[in-house]
Order: sequence, then C-alpha cells, then structure tokens
Amino acid sequence: MCLAAAAQVTLAPDNIDEVLSQMTLKEKASLVVGAGYKSMLAGITGARVPVPGAAGMTRAIPRLGIPAIVLSDGPAGVRIEPERRGTEATFYCTGFPIGSLLSSTWNADMVERVGEAIGNEALEYGVDVLLAPGMNIQRNPLCGRNFEYYSEDPVLSGTIAAAYVNGVQGQGVGACIKHFAANNQETNRFWNDSRVDEETLREIYLRNFEIAVKLSQPWTVMASYNRLNGTHTQQDRWLLTDILRGEWGFGGLVMTDWTGKRDTPAQIGAGCDLMEPGLSSQINELVRKVRSGDLAEDALDTCVRRVLELIVKTPMFKGYEPSLSPDLKAHADIALEAALEGIVLLENRSAALPLAPGSMVALFGVGSYQLLPGGTGSGHVHRPYVVNLDEGLTAEGFGISEDVATKYRSHIDKNRPRKTLLSGMLGTSGAPEMELDRAVVEAIADDADCAVITISRQAGEGGDRHLEDDFLLADNELPMIRDVCEVFHARGKKVTVVLNVGGVVEIASWKELPDAIVLAWQPGQEGGHAIAQILSGRVCPSGRLPVTFPADYFDLPSSANFPYDYSGRSTMAGGGRDSDKDVRNVGYTEYAEGLEVGYRHFVLSGSTGVSYPFGYGLSYTTFEVSEPVFTGDSVSVTVTNTGSVAGKEVVKIMNPFLTAFGKTRLLHPGESQTLFLQPSML
Ligand code: BGC
Repeated sequence: MCLAAAAQVTLAPDNIDEVLSQMTLKEKASLVVGAGYKSMLAGITGARVPVPGAAGMTRAIPRLGIPAIVLSDGPAGVRIEPERRGTEATFYCTGFPIGSLLSSTWNADMVERVGEAIGNEALEYGVDVLLAPGMNIQRNPLCGRNFEYYSEDPVLSGTIAAAYVNGVQGQGVGACIKHFAANNQETNRFWNDSRVDEETLREIYLRNFEIAVKLSQPWTVMASYNRLNGTHTQQDRWLLTDILRGEWGFGGLVMTDWTGKRDTPAQIGAGCDLMEPGLSSQINELVRKVRSGDLAEDALDTCVRRVLELIVKTPMFKGYEPSLSPDLKAHADIALEAALEGIVLLENRSAALPLAPGSMVALFGVGSYQLLPGGTGSGHVHRPYVVNLDEGLTAEGFGISEDVATKYRSHIDKNRPRKTLLSGMLGTSGAPEMELDRAVVEAIADDADCAVITISRQAGEGGDRHLEDDFLLADNELPMIRDVCEVFHARGKKVTVVLNVGGVVEIASWKELPDAIVLAWQPGQEGGHAIAQILSGRVCPSGRLPVTFPADYFDLPSSANFPYDYSGRSTMAGGGRDSDKDVRNVGYTEYAEGLEVGYRHFVLSGSTGVSYPFGYGLSYTTFEVSEPVFTGDSVSVTVTNTGSVAGKEVVKIMNPFLTAFGKTRLLHPGESQTLFLQPSML
C-alpha cells in the first residue's frame, strides 16, 4: 500500500484547484446539480434537512470536506417553514414590504437596511444564499410578479437592487439577483420566448442587472425560465458568459431558476454553474456526455470551481452556528420604517389628510380588516402576524365604526380560503369583496367623522393579472366607492381610498370621487400601523412612484404585446407548455415597443395624459429644490422644507431619462440639505 496516496485533501478557500483535481467525474457532476426538492418539501414530508422550507440545497461530498449549502427565497423576507416537527419552537420571518414599495422609497440606504435585516434572518436561520432580490423590469402592469420587482426604469431598479444586495451580503450571506433576463410575464413562463432587439435589451432589460452587478457584486445570479430571442437564458452563452462575465466582470455563480431537466450539458457549456432544484438524472447525463466527448470536462470544471468558490464563502462552510432566534422585534421596526417611506400619497384634495386626531373612522372594504401584506408564490413569507388597518387606526387613537366592522369581520370569517399544501407554502388571496348595502353606509355616516375604503389586489408567481376585476375596479367596488363618497360628502365628510395592491391599477376613471388616495402597495406585516401613521400625519408621506400609472391600459405600447386577455394560466408547477410556441404573447412575445417602456414612451412620443407619472407623489409639506449644479461627475441640489411639518423629499435628475436620484433626511420646517448625487455612468 502506498501511504502517500492515502493523504486526503479537505476543502479550504486556498485549495480549490487541488480539491477539484481530486474529484471523480461523478462527484464533479453532482456538485453542479442541486439536491432536489427535499428541503422545500420537508415541512410536508418531514425529511431531515438543515432548513425545512428552504427552496434548495447543493449536494455534499463529505470525503472532501464539501458541505451542502442552503438556498432560500426571497425578496420580501426569508421563506422557510415556520413550524417544525418535534419542537414547539417557531421559525417565523419578518414580512417586509414588497419590492415595488421598497423602490417607492427612492432611498437606497433604507433598502440596504431592509437587506441587512433579511440577510441577518437568513444567517440566523441557517441559510447561505438568499434567492433575492427579484429585479425584472416592470414592462407591463399586468405581469403577475411585478410586486417582487422594482421599477419600469433600469437606473432605479439597478440602484435599489444593489442596495438590497449590499445589505444582505454585509451579513456574510449571499444574494441572488433574478431572473436574468427579460422575464417580464408569467403566462407560459417556462417556454415563452421574449423577442427583444439588442439595443432595447442593453438599455432597459440588462441595464438594471449591469448596475446591480457593478455596484454590489452579488454572489449569485439566477437565469430565468423563459427564452430570449430563441434560446433559453439558462443555456445562453452570449448572455451568461460574454455579457455577464466578459463585459460586466461578474465573478460569481449562475444558477438556473427552478426548472425541470433541460439541456444540462448546454447549460454547463453556456456558463450556468448550478442546476436547481436538481435531478439525479442530470448528474448521469453530464457524466455520459463528458465520457462521450460531447461535453468538455474543462467546461464542467469551470462550473465546479465556481460552486466551490461560492461554498467557501458561506456561513455553513465557515461553521457558523445559527441562533435560530433573530431579533424579529428589531426587524419589525425596520419593516415599519420602510413601509412608511414607500407609501405614496396620490390625491389630497382640500387637505383631507391628515385625519383629525381621534376621529371616528368608518372603515370599508375587506382589505381594511384583512390587509394583504405581500404577494403569493416564492415571494411569500411566513410572517408571525399582520397588522390590519383597523388595528393600526386604533393604535393611532382613532375610533372605528363597530357596526360595519362587525359585518366585514364576519364576511371574512365565512370566506377563509381553504388551506391546501400549496397555499400553506406559497400564500393565498384574501376574501372576495363584500357587497355593501347603501343603507349600511347611511346608517353609520352620521356617527362617523370620515370614511376610509381599502381596495385590495392579490397577484403572484405563476400567472399574470387580468384587466377585468383586477387592473380595473370590480363590479362591486365602484358602487362601494360611489355610495360611500355620496353619503359622506352629503354630510360634509371626507373619504380616503387606500390601495393595497401589488401592481398598477386603473385610477383615472374614479379618482375624482374620493378626497384622498393613498397607495399603500402591499406593505408587509406592519402595514396597518404604517398606513395609519400616514393617515394620522404622524409621518409625512415621502414615497414616489417607481412606475407610471397610465390613464388607460392601452395607452402603454407594451399592451399590444402582452397576454392581457389570455384565459389560460401558467401554474406554479406547470409553467405552460412548449406546444404553444406559435401562439402570439404566449409562445413568444415581441417587445415591439422597443425603448418605449413606461415613462420613456411618454417622453419619446410626446404623448401626455397619464393618471400619475413616474416619480409622482404628494406630501403634507412643501419643498423648494434649487437648480442642479454639475461639478465633475456629481450633481448637487439643495432642498429646503418650506412647509409647516417635517418631511423628506426625493430629487431626481432626468436627462431625459433618470440618471441619478437621492432623498433627503427628515427636514424640519425651514431646514435645508444639499444632496450630492452620482449620475449613473454605467
Ligand atoms: C421562482 C424563483 C424562486 C424559485 C425557488 C421559482 O419558481 O421563479 O424566483 O427563487 O422558484 O423557490
């Protein structure tokens, strides 16, 4: 026996090549293929895994000291199972506001703090890579996952994503920017071919990813489900190697989205390093293809090396012992702060808001008593609680008209969604809107001082939204708004509508009815407190729109090429079918509007008449903003609070598109701040 040959190498940050040289072909193949669904389904099957409910894992190779690392969703908080067999302990994670609200803050520092808190929960629950942020461009208002994403504008999207990544990675946990790229609809999401010209791709759909890569060096990138100009992004060498690595200098790992088996060797050849969730048959195929000479072993080695480089950075590899008890109270405070900064005041006629202290509020709309804190699918979070608006208003010292509250609460109780395995994992919609009898409104209007109506919308992964009953008000919502406004206005009392939505809705046709409109988005678990503190004036609204609210859906050029009337649904599991490949907007989608995405259409075409433009948002105070002064590669602007309450202001430099932005600290009346903005030179 040769003693020298028995020496066994164990993985360390400085011996990756040596470890690689000792791996068998099968071991190499197993390292680029994830460990399947066992962690995601552990809450159901009871499988013993480090983190039940985590979306995926890699495979361990114990003889070489290579541990399995844990990957978990997602954008609004860590998505893991909140309960585990054999213990009374719970594992809830903070439900933060959705992506669209985070970008509405226009405050990168705030978003970085959210990233830090989410990263810390990942760390303390044993997660190595957080599968977030989602950052596809909001090309069309009806994309079912827009709530997870940031903006129609690449500079805002890329900058906010970078802040989030920096926050997460500052905790020693990896982030994963997703879904790369041009994944802008859910219909037929596994197969749809996004057909985009190169200029548009680079200016819009890749630019935000480029900014995020350059400003934050994410550890990982997730290639999307869809095809891009005929090729699945997961096997697109031009995208994953030439552009991402060659042009932008990305030094991390690329993983697939949670796809079944595709052309695994082609994915490796393109520079896609990790197949998730991973099937054993992919390992065998890789071994066969290398043996037959169809796949170069060098290409496999490159991917294996990147997986090892990722592993040595992780808490798991470093032997970090998760406490399993992150500071959920401190993180709830951050969730509240973020929600307060991202809520957008859209209308406020005759200073309807803030509400008079201690007012008696008549609260209408199911969403007032069952707030939707976030969307469904992998962006769902098992949060410990949700603060509803009635609770938030009570905590702010308002009275609630109990007669109508009782009706809503009993309607909600009767319409609790049936709990299924999938809804347990991925979240649900709320109860349908209750039919509101005008007599009920009349009966309480005398005793109430004002009315607040909440309109809610749910959306999520696996399906796009629709025009009817979704983008547009449903048949029973318009009468509700009209009746409440007529009855309250007849008594000289004001009405506020709160929009608890994940994406853009039509407002133009009814915006004159109420006195105030507050866009609360889906504000996370502290939502009720956040909305109430804006309504009371304790906090001055400072959110601004990250996306255009068109007057009419069909004013947006992308509406000509989006499946807004498609009745079939992608399902979480199915994702559509390849046999639809010749069906327009299902099998393929032409991005014929080119650069005319969101506000760029209105700038480039000179069309006017949106409901609310990109960057819009009202305040309870007023600001004076100086002319920008350009010095070298920075711009300075001085902002003065000229009103009577403390507030924050957003400044953006449009040239003619967004090139830089910033937000002031809280400025008291008369106070000024000079902001130094760094235009995006990317
Ligand atoms: C989603 C990803 C998610 C993954 C793991 C996929 O269906 O598209 O965003 O990270 O599942 O849960």
